[in-house]
Amino acid sequence: MGQILVTGGAGYIGAHTVKRLAKAGLEAVVLDNLATGHRDFARWGNFIQGDVRDAAVLDMVFGSRRIDAVVHFAAASQVGQSVSDPLFYYQNNVEGALTLLAAMRRHGVETLVFSSSCAVYGPPLDGSHFGGLLTEDHPIGPLSPYAHTKRMIEQILEDSARAYGLRALCLRYFNAAGADPEGEVGERHQPETHLIPLVLQTALGQRECIQILGDDYATPDGTAVRDYIHVQDLADAHILALAHLRSGGAGGALNLGNGQGHSVRQVVEAARAVTGADIPVRLAPRRAGDSPRLVGDATRAQALLGWRPQFADIREIIRTAWDWHRLEPHDPRPL
Ligand SMILES: NC(=O)c1ccc[n+]([C@@H]2O[C@H](COP(=O)([O-])OP(=O)(O)OC[C@H]3O[C@@H](n4cnc5c(N)ncnc54)[C@H](O)[C@@H]3O)[C@@H](O)[C@H]2O)c1
Repeated sequence: MGQILVTGGAGYIGAHTVKRLAKAGLEAVVLDNLATGHRDFARWGNFIQGDVRDAAVLDMVFGSRRIDAVVHFAAASQVGQSVSDPLFYYQNNVEGALTLLAAMRRHGVETLVFSSSCAVYGPPLDGSHFGGLLTEDHPIGPLSPYAHTKRMIEQILEDSARAYGLRALCLRYFNAAGADPEGEVGERHQPETHLIPLVLQTALGQRECIQILGDDYATPDGTAVRDYIHVQDLADAHILALAHLRSGGAGGALNLGNGQGHSVRQVVEAARAVTGADIPVRLAPRRAGDSPRLVGDATRAQALLGWRPQFADIREIIRTAWDWHRLEPHDPRPL
């Protein structure tokens, strides 16, 4: 078996995946421009600092190694930033994917696992925000330039599968959360936009309070509901996805979620229980483009890959994140 190119392997989900690949005896080559990634996260594979939009770097990487599969994490992924600077998002994410796919074709690499997102889905059909899990058949309806980049790349992969025999799985993650249970890697985004690290930074006194963006949604406690999936469960799904494709399995799109929804208030409550800290909250208006509820049905991934999330309990997920954040040196730059 050849090596696996992991783009964005110095980022949060990528680094956890490279660690799990190494544990499974698979050899990874990490290509990352360190725009939001960290050199110290890329310690389980061979590391190359470079950009996926750079065809010459890709030719060097594919030409000098025996790579037979790619896991493509590299992307800019802040929804708000994508609204204020859409061209950067289309360039970085879509042009990055196109450059990568062209290089894969030049070098005869036909297997790809792609980081997609539940952000590709449109709002609930019946206006109900209480029940219902989103399946892969839910209508597509991206709300931000970021989400559009993910959907565009999915479309490019579908067309490339038909035309060139590319075998690609698009993994639509719900909200990645938690940290390596062995404490070797975790979430370090700057600026941080994800709820659980923000809540834990508040518990550590690094932030004054946590803002609740809207408490008037049609959800049980009025705050937005999300599906939190442990980053190690996501990492394991990539290993299963690679094995599936390498053994001739079909491509397509798969949800990766826990199938359970937790509201912002429930996450804050769970974090209070884990940390023993007070965690002050402040109410703020809704943010444009936020869906009231995004909870995934991962039945298809379970059936196709035999994937079963190991971290079902939100407190367990938060506990792994807490173990990471409280030992992580506090970045002195303004949060
Ligand atoms: N975190 C989540 O909850 C979530 C949910 C859905 C989808 N995703 C997707 O999963 C992937 C990983 O997300 P993450 O949370 O680990 O983000 P991250 O920012 O920690 O990781 C992204 C990595 O890609 C690298 N990168 C970005 N542009 C690059 C380029 N042009 N060339 C080379 N490297 C580049 C960054 O330096 C970083 O290391 C992204 O594609 C993201 O859109 C994340």
